[in-house]
Amino acid sequence: MKIGILGTGNIGKTLVRELAKAGRDIKIANSRGPESIETEIVASGARPVTAEEAMRDVDVIILSIPFAKHSDIKSLLTDVPTDTVVIDTANYYPIRDNKIDAIEAGQVESLWVAEELRRPIAKAWNAVGARAFSELGKPPGSPDRLAIPVAADRDIDRDVAMRLVDETGFDPFDAGSLADSWRQQPGSPVYCTSLKREQMATVLASAEKERLSKRRDLVSQIVQERFGMAQLSNSDADFLTKLNRIVYM
Ligand SMILES: NC(=O)c1ccc[n+]([C@@H]2O[C@H](COP(=O)([O-])OP(=O)(O)OC[C@H]3O[C@@H](n4cnc5c(N)ncnc54)[C@H](OP(=O)(O)O)[C@@H]3O)[C@@H](O)[C@H]2O)c1
Repeated sequence: MKIGILGTGNIGKTLVRELAKAGRDIKIANSRGPESIETEIVASGARPVTAEEAMRDVDVIILSIPFAKHSDIKSLLTDVPTDTVVIDTANYYPIRDNKIDAIEAGQVESLWVAEELRRPIAKAWNAVGARAFSELGKPPGSPDRLAIPVAADRDIDRDVAMRLVDETGFDPFDAGSLADSWRQQPGSPVYCTSLKREQMATVLASAEKERLSKRRDLVSQIVQERFGMAQLSNSDADFLTKLNRIVYM
């Protein structure tokens, strides 16, 4: 399986590390060109390329870029075949991404991305904090292995995303369609709360859509007040899990 990863930040770099460890053939790109990608990321065995090249001749594309940047990269996907699996990790934070009217009006985030890219996607790795993702992965069958929800509309997208989530050290959990994926958005009870697979179904079902954005903004404010804006995307795993459980569950 050949994989192109766009975005080598907090989440992207762990994706590269874990999927390279699993033996995947990976190309990686960011917005600034291959020479700007850190040597420790390249050392994992992935090939740094331009963003255009990362989208070409691959079976799977993983997008791990800030939410609003999908509008900037959509032209890169125009010629990508429809059967190529595109997996998106993005979350909408108005404090960081600027307001998007459709989402403020209630559109599900993954449906906005699919509409923007004009193609099916899977949503995965969005509901795990960057530090937890980097530090808490475990081999399959480990008793304390955490789970990550996966949403998609096509079987191929769901199957591939679930297989790759497993390879990154987490139990994949089928969370349903993209229309249902608001249940794994920021502010939801499964969002970065470090749950195990057997807890997922009940906790996903307990989500209340109208409360998500208010709760998301509360947590953002607390993290900012304590650690500053920079830590919004890279908070201590234990602190974030505790805080999110109090506010989101
Ligand atoms: N941080 C978390 O805890 C977390 C958890 C789950 C999901 N997510 C979501 O996953 C996504 C990535 O998060 P992150 O924290 O990894 O972000 P990040 O650290 O800010 O990294 C973003 C990456 O996207 C690249 N990028 C931005 N614009 C681009 C463009 N136009 N073309 C190509 N590459 C572009 C950046 O490259 P340059 O540096 O070259 O611009 C960078 O490598 C976000 O949507 C976030 O909400 C984050």
